[in-house]
Amino acid sequence: MKAFVLTQLKCPLQLEERDGLVPGPGEAVIALQAAALNRRDYWITQGMYPGIQLPIVLGSDGAGVVTHVGEGVPQDLLQRQVIINPGWNWGDREAVHGNAFRILGMPDDGTFAGEVRVPAAYVAAKPEHLSWQEAAALPLAGVTAYRAVFTQGRLQPGERVLISGVGGGVATFALQYALAAGATVVVTSSSAEKIEKAIQLGATAGFDYTVEGWHKQLLAEQEPIDLIIDSAGGDGYANLLDAAAPGGRIVNYGATAGPPKKLDLFKVFWKQLHLAGSTMGSPDDFAGMLAFVSQHKIKPIVDEVFSLADGNEAMERMKHSRQFGKLVIAHQT
Ligand SMILES: NC(=O)c1ccc[n+]([C@@H]2O[C@H](COP(=O)([O-])OP(=O)(O)OC[C@H]3O[C@@H](n4cnc5c(N)ncnc54)[C@H](OP(=O)(O)O)[C@@H]3O)[C@@H](O)[C@H]2O)c1
Repeated sequence: MKAFVLTQLKCPLQLEERDGLVPGPGEAVIALQAAALNRRDYWITQGMYPGIQLPIVLGSDGAGVVTHVGEGVPQDLLQRQVIINPGWNWGDREAVHGNAFRILGMPDDGTFAGEVRVPAAYVAAKPEHLSWQEAAALPLAGVTAYRAVFTQGRLQPGERVLISGVGGGVATFALQYALAAGATVVVTSSSAEKIEKAIQLGATAGFDYTVEGWHKQLLAEQEPIDLIIDSAGGDGYANLLDAAAPGGRIVNYGATAGPPKKLDLFKVFWKQLHLAGSTMGSPDDFAGMLAFVSQHKIKPIVDEVFSLADGNEAMERMKHSRQFGKLVIAHQT
């Protein structure tokens, strides 16, 4: 089988020919139809992730057909069309994952390959309304957005939501979920084109976060925000504290722009804000996400599809944040 391998940090990934995978006890081997990129894959190529082990097949997201099962796995899993929950060993607490938590695609070989081997417990039926490419785009970003919006964000219908950096893979899911749950959604982006796309999907307004004072314009035109979903942090985080309504919630699942240099705690306590963190999701979050996506027939927004051989082009597109939604690698056409 073909595998797209990171052998050296800050270097292009290499296409290799490898032996087919054999499942161990409790495992399944999946012939992948498609995989998807996450910012995590890019961070790992740059050495910006703890505990990097090389060589590694990156990729946390995949969809395909179960071809082999190991000892103890029911035979009726064979030939099933599946997606993979990439968050393993969450642990006993819904509130937070435990120390043994790990993510498919480092240290375990991931989905940028013709086949992947995973514990059968993390295999789920592919949602029927999704194509292979859409299904591959769903798992990591889909569950991250679900936990941020619903489990940690506690979104209620009719609330006002702000999704920052809407072009991001997780952010586009957060936009779709909040709209499907009956919220009014505004977005920020560095790109007028991406704001326009978000408005076409149902956002009521968009603001360019690279423009100084964008949040003042928001507050001049609109009511303040009940729930903010952010993955950037950085100096722009101060604007989010202003945009939040008294008693509002801000959920961060990332810090692409780094930590804020200053955090105005006076605003935090005087407005009685709730600041929360969120990381991927528990098995319950994953099941809840699949049920929500199937109920509302939500289709992941696929920005562009690449072949495995062109995977470095996909990585380059992610590096420059050119995408709106998910970058997908199709293994089979
Ligand atoms: N904790 C978790 O479980 C988890 C899971 C997934 C991702 N993450 C983290 O979340 C972040 C996004 O991940 P992703 O996979 O969705 O990445 P992605 O698809 O590459 O999204 C990146 C987007 O972030 C936005 N952005 C960049 N700088 C920004 C800034 N200063 N202010 C506001 N928005 C900014 C941009 O939006 P525009 O193009 O619209 O400007 C960009 O397109 C990464 O830091 C990632 O590591 C964490």
